[in-house]
Amino acid sequence: MRILLAGSRGQVGSALVSALAPLGEMSAFDRQGLDLRDSQSIRNTIAKVKPDIIINSAAYTAVDRAEQEKDIAFEVNFQAVKELAREAKSIDALLIHFSTDYVFDGEKSAPYVETDVPSPLNVYGQSKLAGERAIAASGCRHFIFRTSWVYGPLGRNFLHAILAAAKAKPELRVVDDQRGAPTSSVAIAGAVAQILSSSSWPAKPDGIYHLSAAGETTWHGFAQAILEAKGLKNPVTAIRSGEYPAAAKRPKNSLLDNGKIGAELGIVLPGWRQGLAAVLAAIH
Ligand SMILES: NC(=O)c1ccc[n+]([C@@H]2O[C@H](COP(=O)([O-])OP(=O)(O)OC[C@H]3O[C@@H](n4cnc5c(N)ncnc54)[C@H](OP(=O)(O)O)[C@@H]3O)[C@@H](O)[C@H]2O)c1
Repeated sequence: MRILLAGSRGQVGSALVSALAPLGEMSAFDRQGLDLRDSQSIRNTIAKVKPDIIINSAAYTAVDRAEQEKDIAFEVNFQAVKELAREAKSIDALLIHFSTDYVFDGEKSAPYVETDVPSPLNVYGQSKLAGERAIAASGCRHFIFRTSWVYGPLGRNFLHAILAAAKAKPELRVVDDQRGAPTSSVAIAGAVAQILSSSSWPAKPDGIYHLSAAGETTWHGFAQAILEAKGLKNPVTAIRSGEYPAAAKRPKNSLLDNGKIGAELGIVLPGWRQGLAAVLAAIH
């Protein structure tokens, strides 16, 4: 099985490179090796590798900056994804792609299911939704895994930001009115490896699957859990989103219902606290 992976230096990409290595011949590209803003490079790379599976873990993920850089966000999260999907279709490869809870507006009180109607609040969410739709329209074989609140041992993420802030400041202030499930890059990669290891995936339906850790918390709850796990005593004050001004609006409810991926693909991720413990153990 030949696997082409784009975005090998990202949180999810780097975890996938490790998790999928035993499954086949992996050609992994970072931005220097395969810039998704260069459609000719996408076509040349796919023609050279001739993959059975194309995994796109690259994305424009700077949620606030995207408000100012709409064109770049759409180039990477929509146009490049459309190109990948067109190429996947032309060589009958499976395309594995990742999307986000930010396609929803967060107004629903229960966790979102795959059939809920997206209504993104920000440019990043709009660009990711456009990417999802381009894949569906291409007719290629595909899995789109929508995940949420990704963190992991590597990369710039909430976990590292909280640990750095705890060193720098005696007290932290963290938003407490957004609900979600922090999901570790390692758990996401493990789930993809489990799916691709099973002989039944080729018979599974194309489409969107929600893939997030079990349970729920807020950013404030997540911050407290991180500090507790590290034995750090900094008090964490709960604040409202409005007290932490950001360029992009975020959904109040980011929870994803994982029932479909459990039923169809046999994937059940552990609770977010377990995921956190595993990541902290890995970076110890
Ligand atoms: N992070 C989250 O909280 C979150 C939540 C929900 C869904 N997701 C989705 O999950 C997936 C993985 O996210 P992640 O957290 O692993 O993101 P990440 O850590 O920000 O990694 C994204 C990677 O994409 C690369 N990239 C950006 N522009 C590129 C381009 N033009 N060509 C090639 N590579 C490019 C980046 O390269 P550089 O290293 O050179 O910058 C980076 O390595 C994405 O689809 C994202 O939308 C993420």
